[in-house]
Amino acid sequence: MMAENTSAAPLLEMRHIHKSFFGVKVLDDVSVSLHKGEVLALLGENGAGKSTLIKILNGDYTMDSGEIYLNGQHVQFHEPRDAEAHGIRMIYQELHYAPDLSVTENLLLSELPRGRGFPGRYIIDWRQAREIAQSRLKLLDLAIDPDVHMRDLPVVERQIVEIVKALSADAQIIVMDEPTAALTPPEVEMLFGIIRNLCAQGVAIIYISHRLDEIFEIADRVTILRDGQHVATKRVDEVKLASVVELMVGREIEARRKTLALTGQESQVVLEVQNLTKLGAYEDVSLKVHAGEIVGVFGLIGSGQLSLTRSIFGAERPDSGSILVDGRECTIRHPQDARNAGIGFVPVDRKVQSLIMGQSVRKNVTLSNWQRLARMGFFQQRIEKDHTRHWVDSLGIRMAGDMEVPIRFLSGGNQQKTVLARWLEANVRVLILNEPTWGVDVGARSDIYDQLEALAQSGLAILIVSSDIQEIMSVCPRILTIYRGRITAEFHRESVSKDELLAAAAGEAV
Ligand SMILES: Nc1ncnc2c1ncn2[C@@H]1O[C@H](COP(=O)(O)OP(=O)(O)OP(=O)(O)O)[C@@H](O)[C@H]1O
Ligand SMILES: [Mg+2]
Repeated sequence: MMAENTSAAPLLEMRHIHKSFFGVKVLDDVSVSLHKGEVLALLGENGAGKSTLIKILNGDYTMDSGEIYLNGQHVQFHEPRDAEAHGIRMIYQELHYAPDLSVTENLLLSELPRGRGFPGRYIIDWRQAREIAQSRLKLLDLAIDPDVHMRDLPVVERQIVEIVKALSADAQIIVMDEPTAALTPPEVEMLFGIIRNLCAQGVAIIYISHRLDEIFEIADRVTILRDGQHVATKRVDEVKLASVVELMVGREIEARRKTLALTGQESQVVLEVQNLTKLGAYEDVSLKVHAGEIVGVFGLIGSGQLSLTRSIFGAERPDSGSILVDGRECTIRHPQDARNAGIGFVPVDRKVQSLIMGQSVRKNVTLSNWQRLARMGFFQQRIEKDHTRHWVDSLGIRMAGDMEVPIRFLSGGNQQKTVLARWLEANVRVLILNEPTWGVDVGARSDIYDQLEALAQSGLAILIVSSDIQEIMSVCPRILTIYRGRITAEFHRESVSKDELLAAAAGEAV
C-alpha cells in the first residue's frame, strides 16, 4: 500500500509548527509531511504533543507560528469546518458523539436527506436517512441498529460509529487518535482492512497509537515526537521496535522482569465473590483475591467483565450472589457502599466516570482521600500538594503548568495516570482496575506496574481486568479467563502460554 511516489510533492506538509500553553512550549519547531495513500504513525510518550499537533491541523487549536501546505498550497484553518472543507477528518481520542441522537442522526448530522414538504418547509426523509446510515454501517460489516441512541450503545460500538462517520465523508486525509483503544482484535483487523482499502484509493492516514505492535502492521512511516520536538521520521521497514521505543523515551527500556511469583495465596482472602450473576451480562462468577495478591481477569472486550466489576463496585445491580470483604458479606447498592467497604475502582471511561475535568490535578488526585485529608485542617493544602507531588513524580504525570491546572488540559495518557494516582492514594483494601493502561505510553506503563506491585506487597488485594494479554501476563501471577460472562479457566502465569490464554478467552476448551 506504500505510496511509491514519496518523491512527489507531499499531500500535506506541516512546517515549523510552534505552540505553547501557559508559557510552556508543547510543540517546538515540528515539521511533518504526509503522502497520498500512506499511513503515517505519529508516536511519542504521553504529553509529547501528538494530539496538539493534529488539533492544529484540524483548526481546533491555533498555532503560535508555522505553516500548513496541502497539495503544495498554503492553507489556513481557523476552525474545524475549514479543515473539513479540505477533506481532512478527525477521529478523536475523546469521542465527540451526541449521546441523545440516534446512530442515523450521528452518522448523517449535517446531511440528513430532505423529503418533500409544504413549500418553504423542510422535512427529513427518515426512511432514506436510515437506508443511507445502514449502507454506511455495511461498509464495515456492522450489525448496529441505526435507530438506537448513541447513549445506549456499548462504548466499542460508539467508537465504531465515529469511525464510520469519518470514513463515509469525502476525505483525503483521515487522522485517527488512538482509534483502537476500545476495539477487540477482530474489530481492529476490520479497521485495518478498511484503512488499507482507503489507502489503495489514495486517502492518507495519520495514525496515533500506543500499541506499538499495530504500528508495524499498519504504518508505512513513523514520525516520533519527544517533549514537543521532532526526533525522527523513518520507514517502518527500516526500524526495529526497540529503537522506536528508545527514540520515544530517549533512553533504553529494559524488558520488564517478572517479579516474584508472589501469589499471596497463603494469606487471608480479602475480596471474595460468590456466584455473582447478572442475567445477560455475567453468570455464576466466583473468585477470591488474597491480601498481597494481584489477580488478572483476561477476556476480550465485551465478555461481561466490565459489568462484573461495575457490580462489585456498586455501579450496577447483580441479580444474585454475594460479595465479601475480609470474610464479611457486604451489601453494595451504591459506589459509596463499596467505598465504605474498602473497595477502590478505576473505571474504563475516565471522562465520564471519574475525573472532574474542571478541577486541578491536585484536587483530582486527592479527591478520594478528601475526608482523611480534611481532618488535617490547616495543613490540608500542604499535604495535598506533597501527596500529589509524590504521584506526579512516581508515575510521571506531565502537564504544561503546575498541579493547579485543570485536568482537562492534560493529555489523554496523563489523565489516565491521574485516575490511577487517585486510587493508589486512596487507602483501600481492595483495588479493582479496568484496562488500567489504556492510552498510556510504554515507559509509563512499567511505572504503573511497579506501583501496583508495591501496593500488593503492602497487603492490598488487586484485581486487574484487561483485554491486553501482555499486561495480564506481565503483572498478574494468577489469571482467570472470562468468556461470555463466565469464568472459563484459571492459570498460573508460570505455567501458561499466550495461546492457551487466548483460547480460553475465546471460549475454546482447554
Ligand atoms: N488546551 C490545553 N491547555 C493547556 N495545556 C494543554 C492543552 N492541550 C494540551 N496541553 C498540554 O500540552 C502537552 C501535550 O499534550 P498532547 O495532548 O498533545 O499530548 P499527547 O502526545 O497527545 O499525549 P497522550 O499520548 O497522553 O494523548 C501536555 O503537556 C498537555 O498537558
Ligand atoms: Mg493525545
